[in-house]
Amino acid sequence: MPRVSAQNDRSHRLVAPAEAVRGQLTVPGDKSLSHRYALLGAIADLPFTIDHYAPGADCASTLSCLADLGVAITRDANGRVSLAGRGLGGLREASQTLDAGNSGSTVRMLAGILAAHAFASTIDGDASLRRRPMRRIIDPLTAMGASFVHADGRLPLTITGAALRATTIATPIASAQVKSALLLAGLHAEGETRVVVSAHSRDHTERALRAFGVDVVTEPAAVVIRGRQPVRPYPVRVAGDPSSAAFWAVAAAGLAGSDVVIDDLLLNPSRTGFVDVLVRAGARVEVTVTEQRANEPVGRLVVRPGRLGDVVIAPHEVPSLIDELPVLAALATFGGSVSVSGAEELRAKESDRITALVTGLVAMGADAQERPDGFVVKAAGRLRGGCAVEACHDHRLAMAFAVAALGAAAPVEIRSADVVDISYPDFFETLESLRG
Ligand code: S3P
Repeated sequence: MPRVSAQNDRSHRLVAPAEAVRGQLTVPGDKSLSHRYALLGAIADLPFTIDHYAPGADCASTLSCLADLGVAITRDANGRVSLAGRGLGGLREASQTLDAGNSGSTVRMLAGILAAHAFASTIDGDASLRRRPMRRIIDPLTAMGASFVHADGRLPLTITGAALRATTIATPIASAQVKSALLLAGLHAEGETRVVVSAHSRDHTERALRAFGVDVVTEPAAVVIRGRQPVRPYPVRVAGDPSSAAFWAVAAAGLAGSDVVIDDLLLNPSRTGFVDVLVRAGARVEVTVTEQRANEPVGRLVVRPGRLGDVVIAPHEVPSLIDELPVLAALATFGGSVSVSGAEELRAKESDRITALVTGLVAMGADAQERPDGFVVKAAGRLRGGCAVEACHDHRLAMAFAVAALGAAAPVEIRSADVVDISYPDFFETLESLRG
């Protein structure tokens, strides 16, 4: 087992056990909303100001790709981003390869827009992004009229756009990124595009489009958009990211004496599956929606500990908590058990999140097992800790291991911990400030 090293810096974080987590806080702006608002701002008919834009590297990748495509963007030190939209079909050919960094959302959703621009764009990314599957956007966007050159379904990807055909397209995977790419492509096409979905995934693109004056219809098994409608945004503040809040919610649910209050939080039901799991596990949870903002419910989440029991997460719940599954696995290290199936998509995320998660938790002393499409983690007394775990350059794994480490008997070193910069640069500072 890797031993704790002498280093404690941004890439080797030593997380000591905690008695409790306590405090009232806000979390960074939602990553999914920030990507979408930036993309919609780029093709909007009006200038657009976004406050509390997500601070991580992923959402910065979307902005830098859009800047390379001719969008004038300013960003101030307070997280306010202003974009001068170029209107539908108005992007300019980039003079260089677009760098999506670690961000799957950037590649997939931007591809939907580039598919409608009659020039060639090449998108590349880091080693993790180069491993991730892209056929899920290549095939349907090809059916709409775009052409692609790719490395066997992976990056680097060259997209040559065209006047797109509005059509009916089935999406076999319940992916909001794919659905969003097709809706953005459909917005540029003449006529009606019907995106048939196998299950409903996060619906931020639909909500944002409606907020900004675009007619989009959600049917039981499809989302329908009429093309060539102008996007008319108004200034918006991005609510806190529930995927970031989930780390503190799980820590509060697991550590006796905890009390965490998170305000200004995005509470879209397609994202709050983890809250239902916490309630089922036995945590004491209060959710209060205080406002609707650009068609999104926003409010407060309060979490306190309870006696944790066994929870089974069913396949139909997976889209509503896919990004929270690593930290929900950590929940079971505090008590009870968590088992999940139907989550094979976890293997296609920033790392193979099933193998890497189970490997890390087992190293810390957990009773955790892989399934082809999920995992089972059972409480086996207090985690031993006193070891190093490898976050595999995956931000959500680094943070999930840190939460599990709070309940361990001895400190745990998180390796490649600086990967939190992808979505939550202040994660470790916030963790220290919540120790109660
Ligand atoms: C996202 C959708 C999910 C999620 C990702 C963000 C989005 O991916 O895991 O972190 O903003 O649409 P898939 O669409 O691939 O399921």
